[in-house]
Amino acid sequence: MSETWKTVRHRTAIGRSALSVPVRQALADRQLTPERTILDYGCGRGDDVRALEQLDRRVIGWDPYYQSESLIEPSSTVLLTYVLNVIEDPAERRETLEHAWKLAATVLIVSARLTWEKSKVRGEVFGDGLRTCRQTFQHLYGASELRSYVEEVTGAKVVAAAPGIIYAFKDDSARLSYLAQRIAPDAAWLASADTVSAIAALVDYVERRGRPPRIDEVPHKTAQLLANFKPNELKRLVRDSADADKVAEGAKLSTLNTLLYLAVELFNGRGPFSSLPASVQLDVRAFFTSYREACRRSDRLLLKLRDTGYIRGAMAASQVGKLTPTALYVHQRAVDRMPTVLRLYEHCASIAAGRPAEWTVAKLKHQGRAVSWLEYPDFDTDPHPRIQSSYAVDLQSLETSHTSYVDSTNHPLLHRKHEFLAPDDPAAPRYRRLTESELKAGLYENPHLIGTENGWEAELIRCGRALRGHRLVRRPAE
Ligand SMILES: C[S@@+](CC[C@H](N)C(=O)[O-])C[C@H]1O[C@@H](n2cnc3c(N)ncnc32)[C@H](O)[C@@H]1O
Repeated sequence: MSETWKTVRHRTAIGRSALSVPVRQALADRQLTPERTILDYGCGRGDDVRALEQLDRRVIGWDPYYQSESLIEPSSTVLLTYVLNVIEDPAERRETLEHAWKLAATVLIVSARLTWEKSKVRGEVFGDGLRTCRQTFQHLYGASELRSYVEEVTGAKVVAAAPGIIYAFKDDSARLSYLAQRIAPDAAWLASADTVSAIAALVDYVERRGRPPRIDEVPHKTAQLLANFKPNELKRLVRDSADADKVAEGAKLSTLNTLLYLAVELFNGRGPFSSLPASVQLDVRAFFTSYREACRRSDRLLLKLRDTGYIRGAMAASQVGKLTPTALYVHQRAVDRMPTVLRLYEHCASIAAGRPAEWTVAKLKHQGRAVSWLEYPDFDTDPHPRIQSSYAVDLQSLETSHTSYVDSTNHPLLHRKHEFLAPDDPAAPRYRRLTESELKAGLYENPHLIGTENGWEAELIRCGRALRGHRLVRRPAE
């Protein structure tokens, strides 16, 4: 085998009929906004570039094979999408990453294929990857390997946006805004067509956020409509119309979100008050006596995260989620309702490893610190949803693992679905009724048998029952 073998790299570029996953993620995360310039470095056939142009983004694509004549210019956001995988020479791989980093003014977005795709890539071992029969090369990354590699080469503070998608920020205020956005996405404003709807939108904002907005937080159109009122008139209108209980709930949530934000920031060295994103500064002013008090409270929260007894107590006291001897399981719709220390636990894991795009239930272990995101695509339609995949991160080692159950012939499945949800979830009563009739029919008498499809089916037969949607019925005679 010759170590000087040159791969036919451009063969790895596929035609895309839809945006790539990293570009979709970056759009959702507001890293590809219209005011930013974008460079797609190693753009392949250029389908992401064309799709971004259609979205009115200022984007240039460059590729050594497909677009080598483009002028490479430093840009706010640089995309390096599935390029590192295909470079067989580790020195050139590093140079490519370094070069892309130099070109990024605000953020570099690196994505790579991950080891969990191993079964899709065949070939013989070459260097630190595989040489395929099409004369291409693939180095599949571990999710944590990619994160540490980008961190080490760029020397930047990085965040995992999703598994295999890393953001390396050059501009710290962009990083802080992104992190704040991730904890508390900006409250969407109701559309305002006239003064009445503009006031309704303002009241809605105050109820959800727990404080009035500053003028630059108000959408332009709404601000124009509200400009007809004097500030005191607006204050009075909001005071008279907003539901005081909702405002108090909104204030509580914003306070907890601020604590969460400041706790995560401690890992990176918390900056002065003036370095915080404007919306967080406003929250600190509205809900705490001082920045120092807010920091003290978030430090206490972090200490609690290290205390296993405290975590166990928080899990036992949680109003949402199913507690087992090893972990707390919570549906996506209910994670924001967990006690704050548990939200911090899940959030730290997501910053380190990236939450997968598709997940249904988060699993937080009591012992050690490890979070898994489990995917049950049919959670709401299947009375006993079957697991499709699981992605786990150990917070102590930062090691990640992925398990796919797609080819499983005997999937693990869920029972007592309502326990994963908040009690006031609209679907919970229907799921609870099903559990009660299953209990009455004796279906939970042998818990060790019912954890997988085959065992569950056998128990249904033993008890003479069948499922019709979320109803348990007598099994028709065979
Ligand atoms: C798997 S394709 C990805 C293309 C595109 N980013 C996408 O996601 O559709 C890898 C691309 O990397 C390009 N490439 C290879 N070596 C490169 C280098 N040193 N710098 C930049 N791009 C490179 C190849 O020409 C190829 O088009």
